[in-house]
Amino acid sequence: MASQDELKSLAARKALEYVQENEYLGIGTGSTVRFFIEALAESGIKIKGAVSTSSQTSELMKKFGIPEVMLNEVNGLPVYIDGADEVNHLLQMIKGGGGALLNEKIVASAADQFICIADESKFVSRLGHVPLPVEVTPNARSLVARRLLKLGGEPNLRMGFTTDHGNLILDVTNLNLNEPMKMENAINNLPGVVDNGLFTERPADLLILACQDGVKVLTAHS
Ligand code: A5P
Repeated sequence: MASQDELKSLAARKALEYVQENEYLGIGTGSTVRFFIEALAESGIKIKGAVSTSSQTSELMKKFGIPEVMLNEVNGLPVYIDGADEVNHLLQMIKGGGGALLNEKIVASAADQFICIADESKFVSRLGHVPLPVEVTPNARSLVARRLLKLGGEPNLRMGFTTDHGNLILDVTNLNLNEPMKMENAINNLPGVVDNGLFTERPADLLILACQDGVKVLTAHS
């Protein structure tokens, strides 16, 4: 039986097939992405440069000799590769466990194709088993927490954590995510919220899911 790390690595390696040579690439954040960065460096595939979504990813890219470009320097991004904390059959996701949700959402929105890489433990029939990260400006932390309570959630401040943009994260449990797109927009409409970890307006286009019985490449299905 393959370990979770072995499955993450299998998904990451499969994603190399979708990297376009001599083009720009978007790279997400997290432990699955770490396997992808290592595999990309080993593969010898030449890219023009990669847009990073976090200081953690930028450091790894530097370590593995992958040139970084800023999103503002590129006109478009053919492919974006990233992990997820949860993903459903519509390829909607909860992300932001690593706190990089804002950059991840920006880069995902810039990309023509968003490829999610994950091990089978991330695939769920309904989103909401993991807390939903909500990025807030520091001065609005309490206000937003009270509004999230009204939406039915239980917000918890992520202790000792500041995002790359100098903001705070409220991890919210108990939200009813039966209509995740409505919730994504309702939360983002609260003043003081910078963004939240629901990716329904911009779901993935392809899911590379590493399972015990093989690596599957899935598109959204009802
Ligand atoms: C980072 O902010 C997250 O969105 C990650 O993409 C997500 O947490 C997946 O991380 P792992 O690959 O470490 O599970």
